[in-house]
Amino acid sequence: MRSPLNKLFLALGLLAIGCGGGGSGATCPTSSTLTYDNFGRQFFATYCDRCHAAGTRPSYRTLAEIRAGSTAIDSVAAAGASAVNVAMPESGATPTEAERRQLGEWLACGVR
Ligand code: HEC
Repeated sequence: MRSPLNKLFLALGLLAIGCGGGGSGATCPTSSTLTYDNFGRQFFATYCDRCHAAGTRPSYRTLAEIRAGSTAIDSVAAAGASAVNVAMPESGATPTEAERRQLGEWLACGVR
């Protein structure tokens, strides 16, 4: 059973762990009221922008940038049914678990 494919899956698995776990498993309830204006902008301004707007790392200053990075963001900072991901922020002000759940929901609802 030692195929090159097994090695590939092992490598992918380790990579996923190294990046702070898998997706949060958050889902979008039909009743969700979260938007960029009432949630997203403030969340990223408070917890992410001081490190993520400088050019060396992905910037999350606009809706389009957040949408483009949404899978990676979910796996490092959002909470849902499968995981509470806390790899980001690396240091400083940290979102509460409730805020991480809101982030997961907002990403799952399509970043709107
Ligand atoms: C204290 C500085 C700091 C803050 C605050 C911060 N980050 Fe990061 N982030 C980094 C650094 C440094 C890297 C690149 C090195 C690394 O992967 O650890 C990074 C990498 C990332 C990556 C790429 C990870 C990958 O494996 O591709 C994502 C996604 C990310 N951050 C999301 C966020 C989100 C979302 C927030 C806010 C909740 C946030 N970060 C807050 C410093 C920060």
